[in-house]
Amino acid sequence: MDTFTIGGDLEVHRLGFGAMRITGEGIWGPPDDPEEAKRLLRRVPELGIDLIDTADSYGPEVSENLIAEALHPYPDGLVIATKGGLRRTGPGQWPRDARPERLKECCEASLRRLKLDRIDLYQLHSPDPQVPYEDSVGALKDLQDEGKIKHVGISNVSLEELTQARGIVEVVTVQNRYNLTDRHSEDVLEACEEAGIGFIPWFPLATGSLAEPDGPLDKSAQAHDATPAQIALAWLLARSPVMLPIPGTGSMPHLEENAAAGEIRLLESDLAELS
Ligand SMILES: NC(=O)c1ccc[n+]([C@@H]2O[C@H](COP(=O)([O-])OP(=O)(O)OC[C@H]3O[C@@H](n4cnc5c(N)ncnc54)[C@H](OP(=O)(O)O)[C@@H]3O)[C@@H](O)[C@H]2O)c1
Repeated sequence: MDTFTIGGDLEVHRLGFGAMRITGEGIWGPPDDPEEAKRLLRRVPELGIDLIDTADSYGPEVSENLIAEALHPYPDGLVIATKGGLRRTGPGQWPRDARPERLKECCEASLRRLKLDRIDLYQLHSPDPQVPYEDSVGALKDLQDEGKIKHVGISNVSLEELTQARGIVEVVTVQNRYNLTDRHSEDVLEACEEAGIGFIPWFPLATGSLAEPDGPLDKSAQAHDATPAQIALAWLLARSPVMLPIPGTGSMPHLEENAAAGEIRLLESDLAELS
């Protein structure tokens, strides 16, 4: 599998793991079987995956706690990318709260839960319309200056917000929704590619709908002896060298299937047809 170097010093395989789906229904509370979730997390580095995406709001706290329970002390080279900036008020509810003082509290709490002295990649989960964006990004810059986070990422941003953030701090990744059927962030992806910024597409499988049998990816899948989910991921990897997909799953067979997508090489004709 190809690698990408985040921020000039964190080399990771381009296919990562999204740890949002190891929580309960509605990304709320613990999963039905926490021991199985920990087995799944321990399988992640065994499969050569060394980028795990999480957030304080997944559970809340559940995803970060399970990661620490399953994997601490962490294998060398494992990059845990977490986020702050959302609150949780119930299943499926994600109000924004990116006030600087709160972001600093959230980062301290993530450091404790993940049992880290410094977070490799800390991402601002989303702009908060109640807070000037420069204030939220400035809080992450302060955390970086204090040595609590190594690199800063941002998420759910427009091109203007990316430009604004880059005027305040070095932005090493952008995490936006992007997949075969949703390319609203094409302009942001192109800006990332130009600047060598990692682009982390969330919802890479469009919540499994792209992966359904007899779906639109079936033909390519059959030609590559692959599954539709693998084709969706292979397309993302082929789309840009800065693309770092983080498919999310709570299922061991799906994790193994997704990891194997890193080996698929799509032909120009596949790419043209899929695009
Ligand atoms: N920055 C943000 O605002 C934001 C928002 C959402 C998510 N994220 C991050 O992005 C990651 C990925 O996004 P996502 O989880 O929403 O979407 P996704 O990865 O596109 O889809 C996950 C869904 O697809 C299913 N799935 C996974 N692998 C499959 C396979 N091989 N075959 C069939 N179905 C499969 C999963 O169910 P099973 O569990 O049954 O496999 C789950 O329901 C998250 O885990 C999280 O880390 C970030």
